[in-house]
Amino acid sequence: MPAMLPGAPHLARADGALRLGGVPLAELARRFGTPLYVYSQAAMLDALAAYQRALAGRRHLLCYAMKANANLAVLQTFARAGCGADIVSGGELARALAAGMPASRIVFSGVGKTRAEMRQALDAGVRGFNVESLAELQRLSAVAVELGATAPVSLRVNPDVDAGTHPYISTGLRDNKFGIAHDEALAAYRLAASLPGLRVTGIDCHIGSQITQAEPFVDALDRMLDLVAAVESEGIVLAHIDLGGGLGIRYADESPPAADALVARMLARLDARGFGTREILLEPGRSLVGNAGVLLTEVQYLKPGAARNFCIVDAAMNDLVRPAMYEAWMAIEPCVERAGPARVWDVVGPVCESGDWLGRDRALTVEPGDILAVLSAGAYGMTMASNYNSRPRAAEVMIVRGEAVLVREREVIESLFAGERLISG
Ligand code: LLP
Repeated sequence: MPAMLPGAPHLARADGALRLGGVPLAELARRFGTPLYVYSQAAMLDALAAYQRALAGRRHLLCYAMKANANLAVLQTFARAGCGADIVSGGELARALAAGMPASRIVFSGVGKTRAEMRQALDAGVRGFNVESLAELQRLSAVAVELGATAPVSLRVNPDVDAGTHPYISTGLRDNKFGIAHDEALAAYRLAASLPGLRVTGIDCHIGSQITQAEPFVDALDRMLDLVAAVESEGIVLAHIDLGGGLGIRYADESPPAADALVARMLARLDARGFGTREILLEPGRSLVGNAGVLLTEVQYLKPGAARNFCIVDAAMNDLVRPAMYEAWMAIEPCVERAGPARVWDVVGPVCESGDWLGRDRALTVEPGDILAVLSAGAYGMTMASNYNSRPRAAEVMIVRGEAVLVREREVIESLFAGERLISG
């Protein structure tokens, strides 16, 4: 067990019972069933406050990267706290609007925007598009002209810095599919400025996710500022600088910089280089919600064996894919502590794949019927859930001012095949 629980102080153990936002998690499992995602609204707002503190007095917009957790109540929480959203699909746009997020605070990122998505976003009046290729510039301009609109664009530049993170979630290297290569960016801005349907508004980068050092962010910022100077020397004004998301959280023993310290460092760099009055956009996802949530699961069977001991639980890779997909380590804690010697278990789900595990080699004292909590599951948990093995997706609960609120019902099995048709004849 890590020395301090990720998610503390909102997540804490008192009298042997694990509590989130003061509410005993085992009780929530009984009341709402398992698998169950539980989030603390206060933990999300605290994480946000660190960014807001550092940005106070600066023109800025915090665009929550909703791919991390897109529950409407989560979006509503951030919208009410003054945030915007970073979206990557028409589906995310619709969700953000449904949660009350003003379109004027939404930025649209992603390498593969379709014409329909561009139309949808222009109709809604989003704040801007983070454009990732020359072809996308051409398409966006054409779609905007058709609609009689002008699309605000910011180019996502690939600064070619190594964020030192997992290869699947690193995005700022030259060989990633993301962004416009640094040495092609100037030409791309010239094109953007010449196209009839576009209005250049800024510059954007995002170098990866779960970054635990400050240096890659500062390096990327420096590379961006070189470009800002070059682009503006041609008379193209970049009103905002979007530094993306990517700040990591503690899953095990990582010690990422605190959000306020990181932002302060970047602002100091902006000031030092004479760009201190520029509007700043950030797109944090994981660092706002990751340690605000847990996934609760009930132990079904214990299956000790010669080679490995399996603790089979009712949550699976379809509920939380990070361990299977990235070999991600996420802490697993019993919701009520049991006396007795621990044994080393592989905590696995019921899905028919050997890759279906939530944690390996975990020392736990467990019995069937016990509730376990997978920690740090507030980001990229529910949003990456699937219906593999025809498993309905989990319910979601948010702790709001000490009360548990059901913010998403458990999916019903019939809905899984409601849109399917038998062949007639
Ligand atoms: N902005 C853009 C353009 C992004 O692509 C992302 C994440 C973010 C912001 C937010 O990054 P964050 O602050 O959450 O690190 N599924 C993976 C993470 C994928 C991140 C993709 N892009 C995981 O579970 O670790």
